[in-house]
Amino acid sequence: MTSIGILGAGRVGGNLARKLAATGHHVTLSYQRPEEETAARAAGIDPRIRFADQRTTAGTSDIVINATPGRTALGRLTDLHAQLTGKILVDVSNATRDADDGLPGELCYPGSSLAEQLQAALPGTRVVKTLNTMLFTVMTAPGSLATPPTAYLSGNDENAKKTVVDLLGDLGWQSAWIEDLGGITTARATEAMILLVPHILRRHGFQPFAVSVAR
Ligand SMILES: NC(=O)c1ccc[n+]([C@@H]2O[C@H](COP(=O)([O-])OP(=O)(O)OC[C@H]3O[C@@H](n4cnc5c(N)ncnc54)[C@H](OP(=O)(O)O)[C@@H]3O)[C@@H](O)[C@H]2O)c1
Repeated sequence: MTSIGILGAGRVGGNLARKLAATGHHVTLSYQRPEEETAARAAGIDPRIRFADQRTTAGTSDIVINATPGRTALGRLTDLHAQLTGKILVDVSNATRDADDGLPGELCYPGSSLAEQLQAALPGTRVVKTLNTMLFTVMTAPGSLATPPTAYLSGNDENAKKTVVDLLGDLGWQSAWIEDLGGITTARATEAMILLVPHILRRHGFQPFAVSVAR
């Protein structure tokens, strides 16, 4: 089983960590403050999940998932350059500035994408963008929606994408629901989908959804 490091122990990171640990992966979840581990343990988080700071999490894992705020991720992950070299970086984040109500407002990288910026800043790391186009609950329970959801993939390295497809399978994704869009530049399309999301949330609240292709 693969060692997976998840940066960010929030809704997305915690949810992915629980499911991936339950499927037998060695999961390390990063905290900003050690109290976060104490709180997570008290709340009964899977005891198989290891906690560490972000640098240790990135340095001791084969696959690293970025589940931290996208707006500040470029500087933070560039700082982990040495730890991320040779690794697959799965970026599930969205890089936006908030609107007045706290929901995503505008893109931080119009005409580009965070994933492209990360790939350029980390040439020794294979960046794969996925799962950023749905509510976090759907990432680990794709079969729970009435309409099959889509998980888009963007990345320059075919083998890295194959590894991520396997991971998605462990999260419950059928191969028919996975859409490989091509190289990392295609992430600018899926990152732009975040502009639709606040309007859906304002109308329907935080109901599970995914932005999917219907055929
Ligand atoms: N929520 C969703 O449904 C959803 C869906 C798709 C994509 N995403 C994307 O996934 C990412 C995480 O979302 P989320 O909903 O899980 O957010 P969240 O619940 O706020 O969790 C964010 C995590 O990142 C940590 N963090 C914040 N600032 C940091 C910093 N400067 N350095 C290191 N760690 C930091 C937070 O730690 P503290 O708690 O200590 O601040 C927390 O553990 C975001 O990029 C978001 O756009 C979210």
